[in-house]
Amino acid sequence: FKAPAIDNEPMRGYGIGSPERAGLQAALLEMEQQLPFEVPCIVNGEEIRTGKLAKQPLPHDHANHLCTYHEADEATVAAAIEGALAAKAGWESMPWNDRAAIFLKAADLVSGKYRYKLLAATILGQGKNVWQAEIDAAAELADFFSFGVKFVEELYSQQPSKNAAGTWNRSEYRALEGFVLAVSPFNFTAIGGNLPGTPALVGNVVVWKPSPAATYSNYLVHKILVEAGVPAGVIQFVPGPPAEVVAQAIAHREFAALHFTGSTFIFKKLWKDIASNLDVYRGYPRIVGETGGKNFHLVHKSAEVRNAVIQTVRGAFEYQGQKCSALSRLYVSKSLWENGFKHQLLEEVAKIKVGPPQDWSNFMGPVIGRPAYDKILDYVKKAKDAGGEVLIGGTGDDSKGYFIQPTVIETKDPKSVTMVEEIFGPVLTVYVYNDEDLDQTLELIDTTTDYALTGSIFSTDRNILIKATNRLRNAAGNVYYNEKCTGAVVGQQPFGGARGSGTNDKAGSISIFYRFVSARSIKENF
Ligand code: ALA
Repeated sequence: FKAPAIDNEPMRGYGIGSPERAGLQAALLEMEQQLPFEVPCIVNGEEIRTGKLAKQPLPHDHANHLCTYHEADEATVAAAIEGALAAKAGWESMPWNDRAAIFLKAADLVSGKYRYKLLAATILGQGKNVWQAEIDAAAELADFFSFGVKFVEELYSQQPSKNAAGTWNRSEYRALEGFVLAVSPFNFTAIGGNLPGTPALVGNVVVWKPSPAATYSNYLVHKILVEAGVPAGVIQFVPGPPAEVVAQAIAHREFAALHFTGSTFIFKKLWKDIASNLDVYRGYPRIVGETGGKNFHLVHKSAEVRNAVIQTVRGAFEYQGQKCSALSRLYVSKSLWENGFKHQLLEEVAKIKVGPPQDWSNFMGPVIGRPAYDKILDYVKKAKDAGGEVLIGGTGDDSKGYFIQPTVIETKDPKSVTMVEEIFGPVLTVYVYNDEDLDQTLELIDTTTDYALTGSIFSTDRNILIKATNRLRNAAGNVYYNEKCTGAVVGQQPFGGARGSGTNDKAGSISIFYRFVSARSIKENF
């Protein structure tokens, strides 16, 4: 079996008058007319209605909600784990070409039949504008499924490099013994698909707890996987309550791995909880996580100003700054700042329209919910209290939804709170450095936080790019030259960071698949 040639899912433009725009518009209207939806747990292919109801709100509209979902209770989680374990033998022993075909079909369903529905659910439920939803719920999601097949094919073909005379050495890549727990975030529907999908593709069974704030889009992803042929029991869909579902799963003897994307705080907590349960397990669980970021742009005096400004606006404010990769600290040379950068930056930010995400003219939608809204504005206050100057924005309006204006703060203190802590919102803090202080600035970028996810260097001088890249060797897992620090593409820029940003197992590459297999070496003498 050889997987077909794979390419990245092309992004659609949705230009005025285009059939794509009409198609998506119709899907949005239909979803708005039909909401709220009812979402059950899905265990062993059965819909389970526990009656413990919770709501996924619309972040732009307090008056309505997208879905009401049935939270998994203890019996449901127990059934999900036992059912997954029962489904394991059949799934793991399914010929690889059949598992591959299922994921290729899932990519096809994302790309075609379900595209507008997935986008509509992501736009309304998670507050993305159309293009942000397209990057995520169409392109990246399809890519995770289709490129996954290519990566696993590559993995399975890896064999020992030498056979002595009369022997044949083989490696085989078994699924992990037990089940994988996938805990996915609100901010990317694609990550919702990737966290259960990656372990499942190599034969694991998965208990999947989606984010409460992404329940409906993630339910659709589950539906797609089932329609593509993932057998009952292989990926169990058990929406919250988050703490209880996760605690129950990691207390189980057969818990084999955690595949997590979310906050650093929760990831550390889970790691400690797993450590304290270690004697319960048969083996050592794999812990794979992608967590927070405090991502930087360094704009050197040799940078091309217009490009650096546009990339900065996009990196900081697309999806309201709610990407783990989003830009939140900008180090810019004084001569550029004073000679056009500041002026152009504020001019561009002033043009940003904030409002309901299904209105095509809004660049920014709402932030995800009440705790996020309060936390983000609290950070603006803390920055002001510490002497930071709000150059633009800094205000919110929660009368209808959770809208926050794009905010730029200038600080004279490079270690002030909004330069250090993750905010996860549309707040950019700027530190202007003296042109001659590049070395000190590189030192600051490296040492100001423990996060190390993404960063960009802007310069037209190759020597500066090299110097900064070398000095910032451990400060980011994804580095960009003269481009924003968001938007890694599956198969092109393997994604993830180290230090406090995660285990850096690189989503969108072959590397992550190693974490969900256990290799066996077989020696045979002839
Ligand atoms: N992978 C996403 C990005 O690079 C988070 O922006």
